Amino acid sequence: MKIVETKSVVLVVFVALLALLGTYFTMVVPLMDQSLYEPTADATPYSKLELRGKEIYQREGCTYCHTQQVRNLLAETKRYGMGEEETFKRYGVRALIQAPPSQPGEYVYDKPHLLGTRRVGPDLARVGGKYDNSWHINHLRDPRSTSPGSIMPAYSWYFDDRGQPTKDAIALVAYLQKLGTNIKWREQGVARVKNQ
Ligand code: HEC
Repeated sequence: MKIVETKSVVLVVFVALLALLGTYFTMVVPLMDQSLYEPTADATPYSKLELRGKEIYQREGCTYCHTQQVRNLLAETKRYGMGEEETFKRYGVRALIQAPPSQPGEYVYDKPHLLGTRRVGPDLARVGGKYDNSWHINHLRDPRSTSPGSIMPAYSWYFDDRGQPTKDAIALVAYLQKLGTNIKWREQGVARVKNQ
């Protein structure tokens, strides 16, 4: 390929062509995959309250410490799944229910999506339904009260003088409880175990 190395115009055209080909196969072809735009069977749009909560999540930069994507790795599907104790307490069966890896159809109502890149704290893609609302309220008011030694900041400005949650705190919790519920994985996992 001496001609490419000696003629600058040919080199530029050659490099541009390669870059275009790369873009086409890594971006354009995957974007044509229709399954990216199909909501999962259980997916529902956010309610007004949940959308407000999402705005607060973005505004507070929760995404700098939390991702929203469970990867297809055993360490993650186990870590973000439902532990034996939790399944037993709630459903009366002793089994570890793994969290399903994230699917494109779960994100169709996320604009913008908040996948995140850093995990200073745990992933939140499957946090909906893990705790009750009062746990979240206490955790946001004072993370150390529910999680000793936590380095998560306290979001005290979402609470009034008497420590009662403001509307924004309630919206944020509603949003957190919605995360991961576009797949009914807890119910499905328990049903699978019971049918065995
Ligand atoms: C400085 C990093 C940081 C920021 C910013 C942050 N968190 Fe956290 N978060 C953590 C850490 C660390 C933990 C694990 C300890 C704990 O439970 O507090 C955590 C835990 C959590 C949990 C419990 C997850 C689980 O599965 O147990 C939730 C829910 C949560 N954070 C929500 C939020 C929300 C909502 C915001 C924004 C308002 C936020 N976090 C901002 C670091 C952060």
